[in-house]
Amino acid sequence: MSNDGVNEGRRRFLTGATCVVGAAGVVGAAVPFVGSWNPSAKAKAAGAPVKANISKIEPGQMVTFEWRGQPVYVVRRTPESLASLSGRDDTFRDPTSAESKQPEYVNGEHRAIEGKEEFLVLVGLCTHLGCAPMYRPEVGVDPASGGENKEWVGGFFCPCHGSKFDLAGRVYKGVPAPTNLDVPPYSYESDGVIVIGVDQEAG
Ligand code: FES
Repeated sequence: MSNDGVNEGRRRFLTGATCVVGAAGVVGAAVPFVGSWNPSAKAKAAGAPVKANISKIEPGQMVTFEWRGQPVYVVRRTPESLASLSGRDDTFRDPTSAESKQPEYVNGEHRAIEGKEEFLVLVGLCTHLGCAPMYRPEVGVDPASGGENKEWVGGFFCPCHGSKFDLAGRVYKGVPAPTNLDVPPYSYESDGVIVIGVDQEAG
């Protein structure tokens, strides 16, 4: 193990999600990944909202932020991946998220704030036993084996026990995870900045 100051928890979810390394510069100011904080600053930050700069996320890319010690995935969906969310409700356990955790202002199959459907915001913890699902956006590529899989339209794959989710975090039938990936409270401060942990105001 190298002594580079990266803690074990961070390492674990860095390896579980793609595109994170490239994103570090994008969000450097927003994310409390600072090893030298004193305990009181850490305690203060533990429950605080996190501002995340999403303006440089490319279509198809995922960036991971940290909020309350949890990974939060932000995916900028392509028009193709948005289209893949429709017409497949019978393949999901909870297609309308009636049994799953998400704020009331996050509606429909996109599970995003109205008018901002391009951006998906999810807590990156599997609803089975809490592993970090991996981002697997490649259409036609099996998320587990990497071989051909014509059924796969892109989504997330949990390496621990094989749960699969679509690009809205909706869980497929027949896997261990009981509910969709959680959508945390979030809001837009501007087009390029979201605040994770603060609810979007109505209207
Ligand atoms: S923790 Fe994800 S499938 Fe078990």
